[in-house]
Amino acid sequence: MTSEIVSVIGGKEASNGTAYESVNPARLNEVVARVRLADASTFSSACRTATAAQREWSRVPAPVRGRVIASIGRLVEANAEELARLVTREIGKPYAEALGEVREIVDTCDFFLGEGRRLYGQTVPSEMPDKNLFTFRVPVGVAAVITAGNFPVAVPSWYLVPALLCGNAVVWKPAEYAAASAHALYRLFTAAGLPDGVLNLVLADGATTFEGLESALAEGTVHKVGFTGSTAVGRAVGELCGRHLQSPCLELGGKNPMVVMPDADLDLAVEGALFAGFGTAGQRCTSLGTVIVHESVHEEFLRRYARAVAEAAIGDPAEDVLCGPLLEERFASRYEEYLGWIQPHHTVVSGPTGRITPDNPRAGFTGEGGLYYHPVVVDGVRPGDRLFLEETFGPIVGVTAFSTLEEAVELANLPGYGLSSSIYTTDPKSAFHFRAGIGAGMVSVNNSTSGAEAHLPFGGNGRSGNGSRQSGVWVLDQFTRWQAMNWDYSGRLQKAQMDVAEIVPDLDFHL
Ligand code: UN1
Repeated sequence: MTSEIVSVIGGKEASNGTAYESVNPARLNEVVARVRLADASTFSSACRTATAAQREWSRVPAPVRGRVIASIGRLVEANAEELARLVTREIGKPYAEALGEVREIVDTCDFFLGEGRRLYGQTVPSEMPDKNLFTFRVPVGVAAVITAGNFPVAVPSWYLVPALLCGNAVVWKPAEYAAASAHALYRLFTAAGLPDGVLNLVLADGATTFEGLESALAEGTVHKVGFTGSTAVGRAVGELCGRHLQSPCLELGGKNPMVVMPDADLDLAVEGALFAGFGTAGQRCTSLGTVIVHESVHEEFLRRYARAVAEAAIGDPAEDVLCGPLLEERFASRYEEYLGWIQPHHTVVSGPTGRITPDNPRAGFTGEGGLYYHPVVVDGVRPGDRLFLEETFGPIVGVTAFSTLEEAVELANLPGYGLSSSIYTTDPKSAFHFRAGIGAGMVSVNNSTSGAEAHLPFGGNGRSGNGSRQSGVWVLDQFTRWQAMNWDYSGRLQKAQMDVAEIVPDLDFHL
């Protein structure tokens, strides 16, 4: 069954546009959705529609908006299997993970439905009598949200749910190769009763979106940009927003390190490195980049890791597998470039590399006709190597050795990303030294680099982002601005800093 998916702006379908097919990466001959991709002026007109709708939406009391978020959570929960099946079919994410991804939307709704009854401001004492000070959280206006397709529904919900709860309108541009999943999520959101124009779905390619965003920012109809994607595009989005005096919420790539100390539980570390490196076929922004393992356990770790990787189930994502196909052709060809970064001084300890085919087979493989690749573990990566320095979105993990924790921290920080990180150790001192030294926004101890919970601050530093944080209460600062109010009821003009009572101390006093 193939559906036709179009943009929806102000509740109306925009059916013109360029034809595009969203394809099942596990079966390349299966079209999941026929899509119409909009042009740049459709994007900017969606921002104008959102601006008009936002005025009314911001007047809806926050607790009532919170009820809408509650309904979204219920609707997503009631449709969880259906939505997860669609995610699996459209981007090849193993079903158990897809179900976890859908759960993450429900968790996000659970968190923010109550925020509708908080969204606290403060009362603050004034320096003068008969005067009160207050702070209010004010919605920013229209948020343009541009998301990747590796988490086609959960990561968008991290933006959409708090943005809407805070009284903003949203123009959402999902990845075109995940259009059907995005459209399904859009329908669940609107079924909760969002008025037309408060959430708009624009299906477009990246270049068109950038052009549309550029004119919307110039027109003043976008007040916050949320972007999840590559560091290179994040930089361009950041530059564009900077010209309009805006700071976007950027969630970019990662080269996430995992340090394995000599006192680590090695089997646990191997299990963590297996999931972190090859779960979601290595296509999370939080996926493992490099294992930095102590020289005394390097060989043993490698032996056990190579065995675990060889035994991992790879194949049809509808089945119980660790690793399905890559997301889409574009990601597969980029991944093949990364394989070209393997140098003569490296040792591939995982067996064959490249596409899994009848001529390049893998034992126990259950897929057929999809973008399936051998998982790759490369030992001997060095600080000057591209494999060590650059994000390699896909199933490839580097390994290197260290001798002191200080050196491990230095290696972990060297690529200049700063999203997630992990250390395996049984010594609390090492864990806390690592936490203090690592530049990442997220630190795991004895756990995978991926799999953050939905109510902790999520985000990165350096090449991973501009310090913005999503999730939990921290994201509220992305979608609201603080407004300060003072109210003088003394009936006089009391001048701050000047008309302030002074209590004179005796500073010469000594005991
Ligand atoms: C991403 O890949 O963009 O922490 C987000 C994790 C997931 C989210 C990943 N909860 O791995």
